[in-house]
Formats: sequence, structure tokens, C-alpha cells
Amino acid sequence: MAGETKYSDLGLVNTKEMFKKAMDGGYAIPAYNFNNMEQLQAIIIACVESKSPVILQVSSGARKYANQTLLKYMALGAVEMMKEMGGNIPIALHLDHGDTYELCKSCIDTGFSSVMIDGSHHSFEDNMALAKKVVEYAHPRDITVEAELGVLAGIEDDVSSEVTHYTKPEEVEEFVEKTGVDSLAISIGTSHGAYKFKVVGPGEEAPPLRFDILEEVERRIPGFPIVLHGASSVVPEYVDTINANGGKIENAVGVSEDQLRRAARSAVCKINIDSDGRLAVTAVIRKIMAENPAEFDPRKYLGPAREELIKMIKYKNENVLGSANRV
Ligand code: G3H
Ligand code: 13P
Ligand code: ZN
Repeated sequence: MAGETKYSDLGLVNTKEMFKKAMDGGYAIPAYNFNNMEQLQAIIIACVESKSPVILQVSSGARKYANQTLLKYMALGAVEMMKEMGGNIPIALHLDHGDTYELCKSCIDTGFSSVMIDGSHHSFEDNMALAKKVVEYAHPRDITVEAELGVLAGIEDDVSSEVTHYTKPEEVEEFVEKTGVDSLAISIGTSHGAYKFKVVGPGEEAPPLRFDILEEVERRIPGFPIVLHGASSVVPEYVDTINANGGKIENAVGVSEDQLRRAARSAVCKINIDSDGRLAVTAVIRKIMAENPAEFDPRKYLGPAREELIKMIKYKNENVLGSANRV
């Protein structure tokens, strides 16, 4: 498998068919981020068991962490494992938040079936030009492309502003038409990480997402697949377990399941989840470490962490995104 690798040779699919079915069926495809073997195993096992299509999502940091060559074989192995389990779920391998044309090209050349070019921090014109360039490389190879309009705030992030730059619905038609992208991430009030909303006291509700913006986007580009980033619920049980076992995660609040269910019924065809997986793994490991100070076999804490991740993913597919039993 030297030189360029075509995603179909790895048994992967792009997101086109997945999104069409999700749009027609009123549910969202889960995009779970992973960095290591246990996370990948958990995603595959949970999605096979819940009969859900899935997008395996890799950030540029994750690609560096895992090693790009190993990653290709991990994806191939994931597909083979899925088949051995008797599953037949569609699996896409997607670059999350690609920031340059070169990175997108490199991922395409090494077996990814889908890429995100995130030019959301550029001007509208530069964002469009960059997305168009990626599409021109991707589409002849049958790779799907996601772009982003609007900027998600991260209140823990000292680089970007604390203010969300909501997507301007009046920009979406021109962007989609001129770039030819296959899906569009929009900013309607979510943000990345565990600290999504500024809350003052315990039990305080997070502000609702801007469904009015989503609806206006849907009106302007009917039937076009929309992507929701920053969609972890920041599961309170995990945060509590972490804090009860020596961790320190304060005032962390995520997107409510009801808001996610509403989004999944709309033109939102892809929902991105990373932080909840990180919290699940950390909660289990912290608890085991605290309760078993003599334990030093990684399988004894990574194994249970993987089990918790499987449980969490199945729950989300079945009860939140609605992607379970769709294949
Ligand atoms: O949206 C970002 C993802 O959660 C990936 O995060 O760059 O730390 O891998 P990362
Ligand atoms: P969370 O941090 O809410 O899990 O969002 C992940 C994400 O959007 C990855 O692109
Ligand atoms: Zn994201």
C-alpha cells in the first residue's frame, strides 16, 4: 500500500450517502473523535452494536499523535473488525478542522474519505477561496468536503474571542454555490471543550442554541447538510466522578440532550463529539487509580474506560442523535 491510498481500498465510504439518508430520516450521523486504539475500538463496537453509521474523526493533533501511517492501518483494521463482528455499517474517516490545503491533500492521499477545511478564521472571501481549492482536489477523487462559516467561541480559549461569531445566514448561499462544498458547519452558540457556556452558579441553565439562525440557513439552502460542532453534553456524572477523584473541572456545562435531539431532526446531518469521550475515559481512569493505588497494568484501567465509552456512544446513538438502527 505504498504511495497514494484510496479510501475505498480501506473499506471506507465518503459522507454523501450517509448525509442523504440522515436528512431524509431526520437524524444525525455521529462524528466521534479518536486518538488511540481503545477509543477506536469503542467507537466501532458501539456503532456496530447499535447499528449506526459512523464518522471516525481525526484532528491534525490526533493524526500527529497516532502517526499518519499507523492511522491508515488502524482505519483498515477498524473496517475489518466491524466485518468480523458481523456488522455492515458505513464508516467514514474524516479530517476534523483541517487548517491548510496541504493538510487536506495529505489526508486525502493517505486514505481519508472526507475532510474539513476550516477557514472560518479567515475573511469570507479567503475562506471561500480556500474551500474551493480543497474541493477541486477532493471531488475528482470522490472525497467529501466540509467547510465552516461563523466562528465558535471557546470561553477557555485565550486566542479566539469570548464572543461567538454566529453564522450570517445571508452568506450561506453564495458560499455553498461558489465553493461546491458538501456540508457546512455553522455557529449557533456551541463551542469546543468542556466550558461551553459561562455559568455563574451550580444548576444554572445554559442559554439555548440559536435555532432561529439554523432555520434561516435551512430556508436559504434547503436540503443541504449542516454540521454541528462543539456538541458534547459535558455529561455531569463524568464531571462529578472526575472531581470526586482528585480532578478539577469547575462550572463545566455542555449542550443539553433536548437541544441536540432538536438539531438532529433538522438539516443538521453530522454532530461532532470529542469532549464527552475524553471525560468518560478520564472519569473511569481517575476512579480506578484512586481506588486501586497498587494497580499498574494499563489494561486494568484502559479496558474499563473503553467499556464506559462503548456505553456512552450507544446511548448517544440510540437516545440523542437517532442514528441507531439505521443500517
Ligand atoms: O474540535 C476539536 C477537537 O475536539 C479536536 O481537538 O485538536 O485537541 O485533538 P484536538
Ligand atoms: P466537543 O468539544 O463539544 O466535543 O466538540 C467536538 C468537535 O466539535 C470536534 O470538531
Ligand atoms: Zn469542531
